[in-house]
Order: sequence, then C-alpha cells, then structure tokens
Amino acid sequence: MTDISECPVEQVDLSRLPGPPGTLFEALDDLRARHRWFRNEIAQGYWVLTRFDDIREAFQTPEVFSNRSIVPVDPNPEYRFMPSLTDPPIHMKYRAPLARWFSPQSIEKYKQSMTESCEAIIDGFIDDGGAEFCSAFADQLPARTLTHILHLPLADAPFFISCANRIRGHVNADDAVAAMRDIKAYFVDVLAGRRAGGLDPDTDFLTYMLGAQVDGRPFNDDELLDTLMTLAFGSLDTTKTAMTWSTWHLATHPADREWVVSEPAIIPSAIEEFLRAYPVVSMARKLNHDVDFHGCPMKKDDMVLLTIQAATRDPEVFDDPATIHLDRSPNRHIAFGASEHRCLGSHLARAELKIAMEKWHQRIPVYRLADGVEIEAHGSHIAELPLTWSGR
Ligand code: HEM
Repeated sequence: MTDISECPVEQVDLSRLPGPPGTLFEALDDLRARHRWFRNEIAQGYWVLTRFDDIREAFQTPEVFSNRSIVPVDPNPEYRFMPSLTDPPIHMKYRAPLARWFSPQSIEKYKQSMTESCEAIIDGFIDDGGAEFCSAFADQLPARTLTHILHLPLADAPFFISCANRIRGHVNADDAVAAMRDIKAYFVDVLAGRRAGGLDPDTDFLTYMLGAQVDGRPFNDDELLDTLMTLAFGSLDTTKTAMTWSTWHLATHPADREWVVSEPAIIPSAIEEFLRAYPVVSMARKLNHDVDFHGCPMKKDDMVLLTIQAATRDPEVFDDPATIHLDRSPNRHIAFGASEHRCLGSHLARAELKIAMEKWHQRIPVYRLADGVEIEAHGSHIAELPLTWSGR
C-alpha cells in the first residue's frame, strides 16, 4: 500500500472543466496516462480511478464501494434518490418493481409517441434555417417522453426542462436544491390526484407504483417521491447531453454526418460509439471500510470517482480510443454503468437517441455550426449548440 503522503495528487474540477468540446476527455486521457489512480484535491478531496478494469472491478464490488453517495463532492447527500442510493440486497427490491416499465418490450409502446414528438419539435423550427439545438430539440424530446411515460400533461414538459436546467451542474447550489423541492412538490400533487382517482395500474406507472411492494410492504410516500425524482433527473439531462454530443460531432465532421444520412442502418452503432467516446456521466462511490485498492490507501467513508469518462477511452481496452469509428465493433463501453445499478433507462435512452438521430437526419440532412460561433463545454456539458441549415 502506498503511504498517503506519497500518493499522486491533482487539483482539477472535472465536472466544470472549461474549454472547447472534448477538453474533459483529453484531460482524462492525460491523467490516465500519468496515474492509475490519484487524489483530487477538490472540495473535501476524493480518489479518482482512471482505468477501465479497475473501474469495472470497483463497480462490481458493492460490499466495499457503496452507493450511499454517488456524487464525489457530496459525501453526505440530503436527497435520497431511489434506487440509486441503496446497496444490495435492498437495492434490487426497490428496483425490481420498476423494471418491467423500462424493459425493451415496454419501450416498444413508447416509440410511436417519441417519433411524433420528434416530428412536432422539428416542425417548430425547421423553416427558420437554424436553431440552438440544446433548447430547441435536446431539452424538448426527453421532457415530452417523460410526460408521456408517466401520463402527465404535455403542458408540464417545460416545467421539467426548467427544473433540470436549474439542477444541471450545481451552478447555483441553492437554486438546484429549490428546483429539487419544486419537482418533489409537483409529484406530491400528482400522487394525491392518482390516489383520489387512479388510472389503470396495468397501463399507468404512477397508479401501479401506489400499489407496488418493497420487501412485502407498499412503498411509503418518501420512497415513491425519491423514485420519481430519480426517473425525472435520470432521464432528462443525460439523454439531452448524449444528443448534444452526437449532434456537435456530426455538425463538425461532415463525412460522419453524410454516412449517417446515406446509411441510416449505421445509427445504432453510431449511438454506441458516441456514448463511448463522449460519455455523459461518471459515478462515485463511498467506501464502506478501509481497503488497499491496487496500492491506493482508501479509508472508510472516502469518496471515489469511478471515471466512466476515462474508462471508455482506455487504450488497453479500445483501439484508437480518441477517434470516432461509427462502425466500431466490438464496443463494450460502460457508459450506462457496470453494476447492479446499471442504467434502468438504457433501453429507453437508446430508443430515444435512435429515433432522434433518424428523424433529424431525414428532415435536416445538411447542417453545420452557425457562422462564427465558438462552442464551449464545461466538463461533459455543452450549454449551447447553434446550428444552421438551408431550410427544406
Ligand atoms: C444517455 C442517457 C443515459 C445515460 C448515459 C445514463 C447513465 C446512467 C448510469 C451511468 C447509471 C449507473 C449509476 C450507478 O452505477 O450508480 C444510471 C442509472 C440509472 N438511470 Fe440512467 N442514463 C441515461 C438515461 C436514463 C433514462 C432515459 C432513464 C429513465 C428511466 C434513466 C434512469 C436511470 C435510473 C432509474 C438509474 C438508477 C438505477 C439503479 O440504481 O438501479 N437513465 N444511468
């Protein structure tokens, strides 16, 4: 075990690192080349793992690497996202009732509505000859999809967009907490409405959840609300960010854009490649006890970042990892995680990303960045992506 005083130390704000798109991923490539693991002296400090194999091992050792917190700079969260912040064996008991609503079979039922949403959103701006992609499209589709799946009014989609953007990146911590409260209050009202006059539990997720069981008893109100919060926040910003990266790439790499347009069958593989090369999120874990992890002297309650955003570009696992190959195969990335907590919404996200990419390129096959704009990213977040095209 390395003595703590001899451990490599860095100070880098990975979640907000500013620069042109890709700055975060290049910084992580450099950090991986220099360190298998290091201590990041940000906030209270946390360990960072950089290699694919180590990260997957940590994901798959929940008895040591706990989900009590999954944000590296927030070791004692006030919120309690469910089932995210639970550990085995109780974790699966909270997750199991949700699973059938997000299975590949269930997702089939949502495809028609996602396709119609895409058409309607694009109709709204296509004749303008350009749009700011994040607000005009990438915000809209996930929020409409969420309202559809939860049988909420479509008119409430802007509320979800606004809350997700207030929480995004914790730019203003007080406002982020307030946005979480707002969304919780919204769901309190919605659940009260369902209790007063429920829909069919076979087709309405919320009515079903009111009767769902965990460990032989119904979910209590806090558990229901914490589950709904996870679904809302887990589905909005992630999918938006994934769409934004792939669109930024295609707007700036005409040969890849033309490939997607001329051969749409490549889209599923392209989506996996974008998720691998521009991974949306990394996840943290909290140490249950002291451990010597490949020489790293981790202590009980330390936070550890399992840097998915470094793992999926590890040259030990992926050939030519910094280059996009739309037909990459195999492509065993872990952008959706690598543990029992693996993304519950991965089938939904993949379907949504596929429909979005197909519809966009059918309607707007030729587009590029708006003239004179310099795109800036903060960590894995691109806030604005102005595009231009020549109309129908
Ligand atoms: C491109 C889009 C998405 C990405 C990259 C993504 C990524 C992830 C990752 C990495 C995890 C694992 C967390 C961990 O190990 O601690 C996760 C969990 C989760 N995701 Fe996603 N996600 C996406 C979309 C969605 C969508 C659309 C939903 C909506 C249902 C969703 C719901 C969830 C839930 C509920 C969990 C917690 C699962 C558990 O703890 O058992 N995600 N996601």
